[in-house]
Amino acid sequence: MEISNNAPIGVFDSGIGGLTVAREIMRNLPSEKIVYFGDTARVPYGGKSRQTVEKYARQIVRFLKTQGIKAIVIACNTATAFAIDAVREEAGLPVIGVIDPGAQVACKETENGRVGVIATRATISSGAYTDAIHAIRPDVRVIQKACPLLVPLVEEGLLHDPVTDEIIMRYLDEVLENGVDTLILGCTHYPLLRSAIRKLIGDDIRLVNPAYETARSLSGLLSREGLACTEPRNPDEPSPYRFFVSDQAEKFAEFANSILPIDVSAARLIQIEDY
Ligand code: DGL
Repeated sequence: MEISNNAPIGVFDSGIGGLTVAREIMRNLPSEKIVYFGDTARVPYGGKSRQTVEKYARQIVRFLKTQGIKAIVIACNTATAFAIDAVREEAGLPVIGVIDPGAQVACKETENGRVGVIATRATISSGAYTDAIHAIRPDVRVIQKACPLLVPLVEEGLLHDPVTDEIIMRYLDEVLENGVDTLILGCTHYPLLRSAIRKLIGDDIRLVNPAYETARSLSGLLSREGLACTEPRNPDEPSPYRFFVSDQAEKFAEFANSILPIDVSAARLIQIEDY
């Protein structure tokens, strides 16, 4: 079947974190439509095995394909790290994850060849950022650190809090001791801690936000594939953004409204295990 340029992009994450990626797509590719799925029933993915995350990701792709999408953005570092190959196989559509775009920019930005990566345990254990960086620049030293407490702190809304600052510094001490000049925020929640991290580490270290870099790479991918949206936005049309979750739709909509530039009136609940 011919894919339409004006079809939506399927964006998925383990829960709410991928909204930081959706937000960048809305800002940087305003004519694109989005179908977002957050796996709020099974979040977090960051402590799960590759096998489990692959299974979840395949179910999500099967669901997104029922929505007539033209491409898929894996808006989750852990799902990208563990399941991008499975997603590609299942989707048969253009797929982009968040890891390569972040790694590419870090390789360009670093001057001293030392790059820090902070992420979930799963992403760190997969070595996906290190592999992506070394595929571009084998000379770069990658200093990785799993930061499992940061996701719950963000989800509790403690973005500017002494407890969060203390934990950020405990995690970052080791990374900073290694003299990194570039730090990848390798988890969907961490861009929301950007100003706290910046305040704690000063201005000399470049912070790479894979959410932003992914939106930019997506624009390139859609152009290359001849899939960029060509349709002018119709003001009478219902919202170009649709949201689906596997649990806690109201809590999701509340969080979405706090970070997105649009009004998310509701998210629809689906039974993802059925796909
Ligand atoms: N979205 C996940 C990531 O970027 C963080 C939350 C989770 O552990 O599921 O790795």
